[in-house]
Amino acid sequence: MTNALDTRPVTGTSEESAHAGATWWRQAAVYQIYPRSFADSNGDGIGDLPGITARVPYLKELGIDAVWLSPFYPSALADGGYDVDDYRDVDPRLGSLEDADAMIAALHAAGIKLIVDIVPNHTSDRHEWFRAALAAPKGSPERARYIFRDGLGENGGLPPADWESVFGGPAWEPVGDGQWYLHFFAKEQPDLNWQDPEVRADFLTTLRFWSDRGVDGFRVDVAHGCAKDLPEVLPSQSELDTMDQDTGLHPLWDRDEVHEIYAEWRGVFNEYDPPRTAVAEAWVPTPQRRHRYASAEGLGQAFNFDLLEADFDANQFRSIITSNLKQSKETGSSTTWVFSNHDVVRHATRYGLPPRGESTTKHGADWLLLGGTRPRLDVEGGLRRARAATLLMLGLPGSAYLYQGEELGLNEVAEIPANERQDPAFFRNPGKDIGRDGCRVPLPWTREGSSFGFGAGNAHLPQPEWFGGSSVEAQQADPASTLSLYREALAFRSRLQTEEDLEWVDSDADVLHFRRPNGWEAVANFGTKPIALPEGDLLIASGSIDGDVLPAETTVWLMR
Ligand code: GLC
Ligand code: CA
Repeated sequence: MTNALDTRPVTGTSEESAHAGATWWRQAAVYQIYPRSFADSNGDGIGDLPGITARVPYLKELGIDAVWLSPFYPSALADGGYDVDDYRDVDPRLGSLEDADAMIAALHAAGIKLIVDIVPNHTSDRHEWFRAALAAPKGSPERARYIFRDGLGENGGLPPADWESVFGGPAWEPVGDGQWYLHFFAKEQPDLNWQDPEVRADFLTTLRFWSDRGVDGFRVDVAHGCAKDLPEVLPSQSELDTMDQDTGLHPLWDRDEVHEIYAEWRGVFNEYDPPRTAVAEAWVPTPQRRHRYASAEGLGQAFNFDLLEADFDANQFRSIITSNLKQSKETGSSTTWVFSNHDVVRHATRYGLPPRGESTTKHGADWLLLGGTRPRLDVEGGLRRARAATLLMLGLPGSAYLYQGEELGLNEVAEIPANERQDPAFFRNPGKDIGRDGCRVPLPWTREGSSFGFGAGNAHLPQPEWFGGSSVEAQQADPASTLSLYREALAFRSRLQTEEDLEWVDSDADVLHFRRPNGWEAVANFGTKPIALPEGDLLIASGSIDGDVLPAETTVWLMR
């Protein structure tokens, strides 16, 4: 191997590196943990914080820089924990604040940062504020923290508008006295009114609460939804649908003044050394709109879901990579790459299905309703393409967000009986949306045994029989396994990390070939025919390499 492999990581500018580690997030590999499905320490079938603490050695060996932890707050689980009862506590089924402290300490001792999920668009209907709002009369300060409106018709018996929630079904719910409240998501998730000063102040308290406990950053749920401006006469759903969403003037989504909220949050983040970081979940129509969330005066970074929404296709990948790198250069942020998370069909499965069409939409997965994983899915091809895409992505400048289980090459679990499903998206769209439970099934750690090593009890979502063969135990000693590929790639990635630049190298139309400033190259053959392997020292490959040939649907890293 060449000396270039010993290059020290170069992150951020020299000015920034004066602030110890202030730019750690720019090119971090961040691993998302869905806590109820990661590891169960006490056998109740629900993953918990001590379970995570016990698996820190696994995370360290995997080679990630940070964990993003989905909500672990007290919750009735109407939406997998995104219905938060109390932002400054831990769900007793998942542990205690002391367990959170112990987990943070263990992660930090292993050199791993922690990002927690913050859910500002809505609380749960069990939050003390919402209970107070229900107990208080119309027009009270308690109701002003949420979005209440009088119903239409006699005694307000009809909803104030015909809006549909994101999960399907009506977005307005009556409370029995002629008033209705707005919920973008499930009815157990009332939307907050961010024009209320108390709401604003309380979230600053929450950000400080977790920052003081050592949390390094925040993932901001539905960041583009908080600012709303509802006119006296509400538009209809069809009027809403035809309004432009890229002007900052839509009454509900991505309004310009949402950034005033995040500018205030930035003030809190910068009270800490190193400053706390944030990444916005903002499903907005253009990269320009997205980068407003990523500005240094705001959250600092925003998820880019473009690769997640693309087919396994060289052209689509090339233009997405080029435009996102250009945008992030212009705004001073770093871009993010994501293939899988707790809301979408796992990418090994997406790539094993016929390209695009209905099957790869966000919550879609209607293919599951049409006959299940096994008969329709090209399991081998899906995994081959997922490995190739992931290795290409891990070579890119910017942060890589990985979702628990993708390092095992897991497929979406199709075999969940309706009566064991949990996702409101499934129940609110009968026969139309299978929901997101299939990517949230507890991880398999061992080939056999109770819940495949997840815990001593029955996993809260049923695991399929084939899970054992994909378990950590089944993969860890096999150099050709997906787990070994991730470990090796992440180890190389942290050693090779260099400036956030990339130069395209000329290649066939079906091939993407780029070079990083230190001579680190990635070559991905998206085509169905082998090509000649370009010159350079071979570091790692997503599939087996024989001689001077780069097989179809395979990626390599080279050092020149
Ligand atoms: C985000 C979360 C999703 C949740 C929704 C409502 O999109 O990622 O899981 O259902 O927000 O909080
Ligand atoms: Ca448990």
